[in-house]
Amino acid sequence: MNQHSLTTATEAQAIEEFRSDVLQGLSQRCKQLSSKYFYDEEGSRLFDQICELDEYYVTRTEMQIMERHVEEMADAIGANSMIIEPGAGSSLKTRLLLEHAAPGTSYVPIDISREHLFRCAERIALEFPQINVTPLHADFCQSIDLPPEADNGQRRVVYFPGSTIGNFEVPLAQRILEQIAHLVQPDGGLLIGFDLRKDVNVLERAYDDRRGVTAAFNMNLLHRINNELGGTFDIENFRHRAIFNDRASRIEMHLISEREQTARVGDHQFHFEKGESICTEYSHKYSIEDFSDLLEGVGFQEQQIWIDPRKYFAIGYYNL
Ligand code: AVI
Repeated sequence: MNQHSLTTATEAQAIEEFRSDVLQGLSQRCKQLSSKYFYDEEGSRLFDQICELDEYYVTRTEMQIMERHVEEMADAIGANSMIIEPGAGSSLKTRLLLEHAAPGTSYVPIDISREHLFRCAERIALEFPQINVTPLHADFCQSIDLPPEADNGQRRVVYFPGSTIGNFEVPLAQRILEQIAHLVQPDGGLLIGFDLRKDVNVLERAYDDRRGVTAAFNMNLLHRINNELGGTFDIENFRHRAIFNDRASRIEMHLISEREQTARVGDHQFHFEKGESICTEYSHKYSIEDFSDLLEGVGFQEQQIWIDPRKYFAIGYYNL
């Protein structure tokens, strides 16, 4: 198989997985679509715009905490450590951490998209010639093992910024954290960003901004189904909704059917009542205590927590 047919085979597989997940999600009594499908080219472009919005405090606040405390974070990680990052490290936060990393640090970015991963790894290697960079093509939702060539015997620390962990329901978040614990054992650490519970108006505005960027990000899922799976969604007849579910402590994003209607995906037909929702994303908001309990449950002990003055966001460092 040459490189082109390899790519085509992987793309075909990705489309089949998308189709099967969409059909399964829309067949549930409470219809749902996985938020992992937000991030095609258009979705990633919209997400970059979300990160710049006044209402979306998440990215800006995490960056402020990093700017203020990155030296303490680098100290906590220590010299001669291997920093492993799920989701290829193209962010400013990663660069800031690597700029302050102690001597002898190596860096292992992990990503599911091979092309994106190698592009980012190459750029990081050029920018930080003193750091040994070994990209690892893997899905961090599955179990991760370092290949022997990447295992240099260093102490391992996973860097998991962005509050991505909040997008997983608690049992799955627990499983991912268990996998991280397994990856960094016996004496490794975890530096992780998580979003805090706060005023419900601040939260709901962050996920339903005035300019409608988050709405477009959410709607992009229906565009993808129409374009890639031959769907017949009448996008005008759906609207974006973001609400805070206090009991589950999470923002929930939905696409609401504005009228009774049907949509087809291939041979399958789906019926929507007026007001019926498709749930597209959860974004969990934690208290420091609940998050530390979650981590303790998988063997990590809290070492240090950094928070911004408004107490909107936290970055925690935990050791096994
Ligand atoms: C990627 N993730 C942490 C974002 C969040 O805040 O949950 C995704 C997002 N969805 C809407 N806006 C941002």
